[in-house]
Amino acid sequence: MAFTHKTPSIKLSDGTSIPQLGFGTFQVPPADAVETVGAALEVGFRHIDTAQGYQNEAEVGEAIANSGIARDEIYVTSKLTNSKHAREDVMRSFDETLEKLRLDRLDLFLIHWPLPTKYDGDFVSTWKAMLELVEDGRLTSAGVSNFEPAHLTKIIEETGATPVVNQIEAHPFFRNDVARRASHEQAIAVEAWGPLAKGEALSDPVVKAIAAETDRAASQVVLRWHVQRGDIIFPKSMHRERMAENLAIFDFELSDDQIARIDALDKGDEGRQGPNPNTFDKV
Ligand SMILES: NC(=O)c1ccc[n+]([C@@H]2O[C@H](COP(=O)([O-])OP(=O)(O)OC[C@H]3O[C@@H](n4cnc5c(N)ncnc54)[C@H](OP(=O)(O)O)[C@@H]3O)[C@@H](O)[C@H]2O)c1
Repeated sequence: MAFTHKTPSIKLSDGTSIPQLGFGTFQVPPADAVETVGAALEVGFRHIDTAQGYQNEAEVGEAIANSGIARDEIYVTSKLTNSKHAREDVMRSFDETLEKLRLDRLDLFLIHWPLPTKYDGDFVSTWKAMLELVEDGRLTSAGVSNFEPAHLTKIIEETGATPVVNQIEAHPFFRNDVARRASHEQAIAVEAWGPLAKGEALSDPVVKAIAAETDRAASQVVLRWHVQRGDIIFPKSMHRERMAENLAIFDFELSDDQIARIDALDKGDEGRQGPNPNTFDKV
């Protein structure tokens, strides 16, 4: 895949590549999504993260179609929603996802949540259905989201197939190093969701001090911290100037000391903003 902008790519275990920085679309309302995703593409993003549950796949598809950008220059991810874990529902809902996105092939599809207390704890069958989609040729790469170490071990041991990414909550207040380490041990790339801690990291005094030291915006400091950790990120913004700011993070570096000061903001599990995947059961 040839990318025409400065965002570096990360090589995944199946040999494909993903732009390290993309655009997130959680809570981008459908009524605004054509314009907002269109702006993100105009500003230069070439990787869009959506989900069946975000209710905006059709608008994301419209924005991509309107952009005129070649298909192989845009990386698109969607996620299987919690009510569709049964095999037939995986198949049917994936067809709907492709139709809404106006694509004949999706780059990456993730199981959104493992739901270990639902479906008799059987997320392995769901994972097998995801692998069928890859076999089928209409899905390039299969991955997971919000998988804790035990969930990763289970699907890998029972199928022999490793997800290419694990998309997990991670930001300065919740580094989530346990799930990150378990992912890396299996050569699974980490995608950090909520990279700005929903914007809350931007008013942290340590982040603000480093922003002043580097003459950068607080958002750029936090996103740069993620990039230097090697994670894949897709900050969301409804504002074009913020999108441009979030994209411009590949021309400066944080020092080891600055990285360590941001690392020290970690509050462990208390820093989570989202639910704990071991108990989350909303279907
Ligand atoms: N797999 C999962 O379970 C899961 C869960 C949550 C999120 N995600 C994915 O991860 C993506 C990112 O996470 P997120 O959207 O939850 O949170 P986020 O990207 O950490 O933060 C978004 C918030 O930060 C603000 N913001 C963005 N850029 C800014 C800037 N330069 N200056 C000041 N404020 C800025 C946004 O405000 P404005 O919009 O008003 O600019 C918004 O309130 C999502 O969109 C979604 O694709 C996945």
